[in-house]
Amino acid sequence: MSSPIAHSPWRLSVAPMMDWTDRHCRFFHRLITRHALLYTEMVTTGALIHGDQGRHLDFNGEEHPVALQLGGSEPEDLAACAKLAERWGYDEVNLNCGCPSERVQKGAFGACLMNEPQLVADGVKAMRDATTLPVTVKHRIGIDRNESYDFVRDFVGTVAAAGCEVFIVHARNAWLQGLSPKENREIPPLRYEIVAQLKRDFPQLTIAINGGLKTPDEIAAQLAVVDGVMVGREAYHEPWSMAQWDSRFFGQPDPAADREQVEAQWLDYLDRLHAAARSWPHAMRHALGLWNGTPGARRWRQVWSDHRLKGLPPREVAAQATAARLGGLLAAQAA
Ligand SMILES: Cc1cc2nc3c(=O)[nH]c(=O)nc-3n(C[C@H](O)[C@H](O)[C@H](O)COP(=O)(O)O)c2cc1C
Repeated sequence: MSSPIAHSPWRLSVAPMMDWTDRHCRFFHRLITRHALLYTEMVTTGALIHGDQGRHLDFNGEEHPVALQLGGSEPEDLAACAKLAERWGYDEVNLNCGCPSERVQKGAFGACLMNEPQLVADGVKAMRDATTLPVTVKHRIGIDRNESYDFVRDFVGTVAAAGCEVFIVHARNAWLQGLSPKENREIPPLRYEIVAQLKRDFPQLTIAINGGLKTPDEIAAQLAVVDGVMVGREAYHEPWSMAQWDSRFFGQPDPAADREQVEAQWLDYLDRLHAAARSWPHAMRHALGLWNGTPGARRWRQVWSDHRLKGLPPREVAAQATAARLGGLLAAQAA
């Protein structure tokens, strides 16, 4: 029997997405891919040091491999939070140097940290001294209208000199003024060639690319150039797009044969939440795209989103949703 090929942990991952990639979402994604690396939402060092650590850090064992993304800039705080990441059992700690929101800029972290590579380097060093976990950085290719390659090359060089070996690069600039975070994920142009150039200039580093990548063929094309691909919105909105990731990119069996199987396992999870008197709709919102692209998907989604049904046990809602979906399917077949 041939042994499985060892792949880089960063070969394929689902991006950190605030309000989206919470522990419920990650559990759901794990039903579709066992091997992609999953990232938490960004958690600020302040929230961890002064807030409810369990609320921010608890996760399900099934989520591994899972990386904690931190937002912060003070090396001492980052080190304390890296220790927490290790204590909680995360597999990696990642520093956000790509978020352009005004709130984050006020805290002087996120994308504006790209203007302070030495501070990032100090933070990385402090985290590496505090934990044995891999310390990675997610960043943009530039700030505002500065499109010079030297800027991002020098950033990576400075941070790598402090020991960071893994860079996840969102291949567009962050414009710190005048764009909302959403616009900052759409308007600054994607420049994949900049990430390819980083890989050529730093062949010893692990360089993963992020931004606008959707299909397995697009992922495969990037993996011929860089070490890893991170997918954000497509994985969230079209979760079934991950269904063949494990076989195609990790040489492993895909965990789910079809969407029914994912739905059945997910329903078990919602049942457990409901039995523990926790809100299942809060978790279910992450799974609303499961049937996208099939006849009846819209009706299925509408039932699950119906506010009037939110007090019912999830199994009762599921029965209605499936009936609605199959009704849609029959209507499509009859048309
Ligand atoms: C709703 C939302 C929230 C996000 N929150 C974060 C975050 O907390 N940390 C981060 O590094 N990036 C965040 N991002 C950016 C994504 O990680 C990713 O870089 C971006 O969406 C581009 O990748 P995509 O085109 O595959 O979606 C967020 C994106 C979205 C859509």
